[in-house]
Amino acid sequence: MDSKQEIFRITRRQFVTSSAAVLATSSLAHEANAVTALAGQPSEQGKSDVRPARGPFRVIIDTDPGVDDALALLLAMRSPELKIEAITPVAGNVPLGLTLPNALRLVEIAGRTDIPVAAGARTPLVRRLVTATYAHGENGLGGAVFPEPTTKPVATPAAEMICQIVRKYPGEVTLITIGPLTNVATAINSDPELAGIVRGLVMMGGSLSGGNITPAAEFNVYVDPEAARIVFQSGIPITMVGLDVTRKTSLTDDHVRTLEAAQNPVSQAAAKIGRNAINHNREHGYLVGPNMHDSLAVAGFLDPSILKLQDYYVDVETTGELTAGETLGYSPIAGDLRRRPGMEKDAAAANMPIRGSAPTLASTKTSPVLRDKFVPNTKVAIEVDSAKFFDLLIGRLSGSK
Ligand code: BDR
Ligand code: CA
Repeated sequence: MDSKQEIFRITRRQFVTSSAAVLATSSLAHEANAVTALAGQPSEQGKSDVRPARGPFRVIIDTDPGVDDALALLLAMRSPELKIEAITPVAGNVPLGLTLPNALRLVEIAGRTDIPVAAGARTPLVRRLVTATYAHGENGLGGAVFPEPTTKPVATPAAEMICQIVRKYPGEVTLITIGPLTNVATAINSDPELAGIVRGLVMMGGSLSGGNITPAAEFNVYVDPEAARIVFQSGIPITMVGLDVTRKTSLTDDHVRTLEAAQNPVSQAAAKIGRNAINHNREHGYLVGPNMHDSLAVAGFLDPSILKLQDYYVDVETTGELTAGETLGYSPIAGDLRRRPGMEKDAAAANMPIRGSAPTLASTKTSPVLRDKFVPNTKVAIEVDSAKFFDLLIGRLSGSK
């Protein structure tokens, strides 16, 4: 947790639309979109392109509710710009036996039982589940208690549901992932063409500035690093909203008071969860409230001017004994490859190979080079306008916006 909230005043460069049709259809457009701000246009550092050209935007929200997941889901369900095709809970903050009913509770609270909820993975791909009850409480909602849901999940499992919806609307569906990436990786593994027809993926996950569960890893990637690696290497245009920015989204008493004052079921539920989470933080010695990591991913999709993005090649450490789940970002423009001032002006930097660890004697690999030259696969959020974010979040939840 950060003791201070830093507020970045960023240049507002709105997403300028040129060819919605090109963006919306072919898999080629998706490949192009991974490296350009708009299809057919050169990449401009910092330009935010998380949102497609026209709404409402079809999305699937993959989630592990979770205190901040809960507010993110409520925000999404209160946002007319989104056509939520499904919510797909996964094991993460708490086991699936809790994330699934929590998601069902939230659709009921929001009066959105029209949204199908499909049960996802109970465990990560190859690891034992590690939960975060230390932050989200035993019930995943910070101890805030709500009635048992009466709504049932659909029969289709989450990964299959993701495949079906993306296939039904090729080039139109954005995956908003705010939990471990097990469901999405399973979907990608089961359908080789899927990655080519997903519109994009906006992820709360990862960090280029240290972790929150280990010094190296952010929680969502830590829980299932193998799944995250599959996603980062899939070719889907990814926007990574990681700890670099989500650490600047601490919920305050003032926010909760505004929610409490608004007399609607969503604001009351959000206030109850927020109040419990702030108290939980205090009891555990934190001076600030919990970060609203997941809501920032949703908000950045709703309003691209909240985040400033930069192209990176991101990959995930999966073999480290201490570092599994670390996200590594390569960017010649940021000078990350050599960390030398002035490097950003050096055209040669863009042609530097992307290297992994030196090959071991036992390995069949002879070279550490992973890619011959820099190719971005992810737009990483590097700055956030926290005030604007909270205006949107609290405004939507309280019903004033
Ligand atoms: C992420 O981990 C979870 O605990 C939160 O819900 C969020 O998705 C932050 O690291
Ligand atoms: Ca989450």
